[in-house]
Amino acid sequence: MRNFCEASDIRLERQQAPPTLKESNVTTFQHQKMASMGPSPGMGPVMVLSKWLSALIRFVPLEGHLVVVAVIVVVVVIVWLTSFFMSFFSPQKRYTKPHQCTHVHKKTDAKTQRQTGREAQLSNIQAAMAVANIIRTTLGPQSMLKMLLDPMGGIVMTNDGNCILREVDVSHPTAKSMIELSRAQEEEVGDGTTSVIVLSAQVLSQAEPFLMNKYHPTVIVQGYTKALAYALEVAEKIAVSIDVSKDQEWVSKLVMSSIGTKFSSRWNEKLVDMAIQAVLTVTETSASGMRRVDIKRYAKVEKIPGGELDDSKVLKGIMFQKEMTHSKMRRRIENPRILLLDSPLEYKKGESQTTMEITDDQDWNTMLKLEEEYVERMCQEIIALKPDVVITEKGVSDLAQHYLQKANITAFRRLRKTDNNRVAKATGATIVSRTEEISESDIGTKCGLFEMRKLGDDWFCFLEECEDPKACTIILRGGSKDVLNEVERNLQDAMQVVRNVVYDPKLLPGGGATEMALAVALRKQGQSLQGTQQGPFMAVGDALEVIPRTLAQNCGVSVIRTITELRAKHAAAAAVAAESDPSSTNSKPCHIGVNGITGDLIDMNELGIWEPFSVKVQTIKTAIENACMIL
Ligand SMILES: Nc1ncnc2c1ncn2[C@@H]1O[C@H](COP(=O)(O)OP(=O)(O)OP(=O)(O)O)[C@@H](O)[C@H]1O
Ligand SMILES: [Mg+2]
Repeated sequence: MRNFCEASDIRLERQQAPPTLKESNVTTFQHQKMASMGPSPGMGPVMVLSKWLSALIRFVPLEGHLVVVAVIVVVVVIVWLTSFFMSFFSPQKRYTKPHQCTHVHKKTDAKTQRQTGREAQLSNIQAAMAVANIIRTTLGPQSMLKMLLDPMGGIVMTNDGNCILREVDVSHPTAKSMIELSRAQEEEVGDGTTSVIVLSAQVLSQAEPFLMNKYHPTVIVQGYTKALAYALEVAEKIAVSIDVSKDQEWVSKLVMSSIGTKFSSRWNEKLVDMAIQAVLTVTETSASGMRRVDIKRYAKVEKIPGGELDDSKVLKGIMFQKEMTHSKMRRRIENPRILLLDSPLEYKKGESQTTMEITDDQDWNTMLKLEEEYVERMCQEIIALKPDVVITEKGVSDLAQHYLQKANITAFRRLRKTDNNRVAKATGATIVSRTEEISESDIGTKCGLFEMRKLGDDWFCFLEECEDPKACTIILRGGSKDVLNEVERNLQDAMQVVRNVVYDPKLLPGGGATEMALAVALRKQGQSLQGTQQGPFMAVGDALEVIPRTLAQNCGVSVIRTITELRAKHAAAAAVAAESDPSSTNSKPCHIGVNGITGDLIDMNELGIWEPFSVKVQTIKTAIENACMIL
């Protein structure tokens, strides 16, 4: 403590002490040096000029002041005029404002072209529209399939937005971002990948007139964001809530409208039933009431070319393509006891390199015996629990096969981890890693029938008639591989739709009814807005009309007449609702939309076209947010 006080005293003294002669000399010298060096870099040109002026005035007699000022003014004017004329002949002529410096690298003929400002913004909009135009015709029930050839010569035949765009090779950054958008939609909700692209491009193109009128992009983005928030509010009001376990009819309507736009609509009823059955099988409800649906992991689609689509079915269990390890093992077992392993039934192999030195000829025999004993011990541990079927993710040696077959056990080797997980879920077995740790509770007993069946040229293992399985296999049969691929995509869409409604049991009318209702509400709300954001706010409403418009276009009816009529019907319904209840804009929602097959206007309640709330909301959100990002 004392030391500290002393030290601080000393510091104080030092600060207060007058500078020594040496120190003061140094400082004076530094000042002089700075003055002789001229203006410091931080000084403004005005300050420098005024300094020079005051220095000049000190030496020049009073009448000379005016002459000096006149000379300076002339010099400044000459410099300014020169720089002005030079800028005219400069090759880098720019007209952009600093805020519009959006740099875009666009590839043309293997050269990278730099675009900035408004040019870049307009080219972004054009690229987005170009992407949307590729898939515009694949929206709705009258959509057309596209046949795409990949560089390897393979064919993809589909009308799934995401699948088409995945195959398209583009180099424009905005086009790439649009393709990402549809992928994001596919991963998030599984449907609406065409709508999201068409809508996003339309929202972007609505910004074009504002940009031409020199609106700042942030003003447009603010207007769009406000419109999005209001549209979500209105969508919430229009939505209809259902109970998935009771209102099965609603769920099938929902899946039908999702599959109805696809190639497999001919087998509508079959696919709808399959999608609902598969999703309800893999739905798990926790004790707290939380629902979990993992389609990707627990509902596997197996495509087997041959047969008819009518032969397709959802198994109450699992099927995988595997032959038994030994041909004499049993091929059909009722109520089998199933053991799952993820360890090998072989002698232990070295990790990477193993060196063994044998000096005595007896040692070799001892070594082989030890290995045999090891495998036998593992098999005895398994046999002790009397399983009927043993499935492992690793290998099964010949010796192990021998022991298992003698014990009347059917064994499978090298099953994929994902398949093994599904078998575990369906049969109630636990995957065991070490044979010495197997217990009775690890054996799966929920399977009703194990059978090996031959489909086409291959043998398949069926574990069927499971009791309350939480995983399933969907077998798809069909004429060709391309057809099967498309049916699988359609079925995946349908299953995702069911999953969405299980998570969020709310529906919105399809056929452009929701979009038109939102458009009318946005235009009405926009009239009460003040300032520059009003235009972009109402433009979102206009953009939303692209969905019913495209549906009408794809039907081949008069687009203008249909849309005008639809708009008028929605506006009238909104006006009636506002009169009866002025506090809410859409208390009695109008469900009139475009019949995607005939092109007539019809109430979606009658037609039964509904979409999950989450898909629709996600589509609108993603589309507007993406447009804001690109602007
Ligand atoms: N029978 C129908 N009449 C009118 N509109 C329909 C009908 N069936 C579906 N729709 C509408 O068609 C749109 C969906 O079309 P589609 O399924 O082709 O595209 P998507 O779902 O956006 O994309 P994708 O299914 O390729 O991921 C929705 O707006 C839906 O309301
Ligand atoms: Mg769809």
